[in-house]
Amino acid sequence: MKRLGILTSGGDAPGMNAAIRAAVRSASARGIEMAGYLNGFTGFVANRYQLIDDRAVANVIQRGGTFIGTSRCPEFLDPGIRAAAAAQMRAEGVEGLLVVGGDGSFRGALALQDEHQVPVAGIPGTIDNDVWGTDETIGFDTAVNTAVLAVDQVRDTSESTGMMFFIEVMGRRSGAIALHTAVAAGAAGVLVPEARDEFSKLIKHLKRSIERGKRSHIIVVAEGEQAGGAFGVAKLVGEAIKSPYRVVVLGHIQRGGRPSVRDRVIASEAGALAVKALVEGRTGVMIGRNGGRPVEVPLADVVRNQHPAPRLDLLALAEAISG
Ligand code: F6P
Repeated sequence: MKRLGILTSGGDAPGMNAAIRAAVRSASARGIEMAGYLNGFTGFVANRYQLIDDRAVANVIQRGGTFIGTSRCPEFLDPGIRAAAAAQMRAEGVEGLLVVGGDGSFRGALALQDEHQVPVAGIPGTIDNDVWGTDETIGFDTAVNTAVLAVDQVRDTSESTGMMFFIEVMGRRSGAIALHTAVAAGAAGVLVPEARDEFSKLIKHLKRSIERGKRSHIIVVAEGEQAGGAFGVAKLVGEAIKSPYRVVVLGHIQRGGRPSVRDRVIASEAGALAVKALVEGRTGVMIGRNGGRPVEVPLADVVRNQHPAPRLDLLALAEAISG
């Protein structure tokens, strides 16, 4: 093997740079060049890449985002575009592709392998932690820590003024960030897309809590919650409770920033192991995590099973210990 390619795809996640760095250096140690495709599958389709050598990945491990860029690339759903991209990649001498992203990105990677026999390996990178076959995705730990820091700050105002706060965290399809943030920040309630009909329970809980004299109430809402995110929830719950409230939407603040130690470590392991898998002839695998250790999981299973169930037990825990 003389040359591999790597791309980052979908929403950027803190730790993606650490994964690229590890992949580049593991490849280089084996005498393999690494082509970094720019802006995800968009650059792959357009044959836009740069060769990334050992020195080019100095000082990136601590940076959020992805220095080779990312995109969501609907064109890649077109089989004709995939065929042209696979041919182009071969013509450039790129013998395998590492894809850092979520399950949509892996679907594209798997199609390349199945239709054009391109060796591919997946590295789960998304703040949403919603990839089947891995306990953690790169970026989740940093995003939750960022969200918790923000909630802690809002808590000061909630405590000082007695106002209720509805705080929206990211997760269009996934409640993972919301559930972990709620427990870690001591929220009074949490609403996520995967659990419906939680409203009446939440309203009852908040009323009881106000009666008991609790002053500060934080309700964490996942962006994809059916009532329309934090604004929708605030309207429904705030009106029922008749208590003054404010809404805070954390948005993309959660996606950026210096990756946590955890994200740097799991990304570094995954980047190195993805290269190893391809070099040793194992293709169509994702480097996931199970029980604190990296594991290879067939991409076909990841794509087939899609969105894993989040820790809904954390919903009850958050409420039970919120006081
Ligand atoms: O990549 C995951 C994610 O951060 C989701 O949590 C969020 O819904 C989405 O990306 C936002 O995407 P965009 O930046 O394209 O608006």
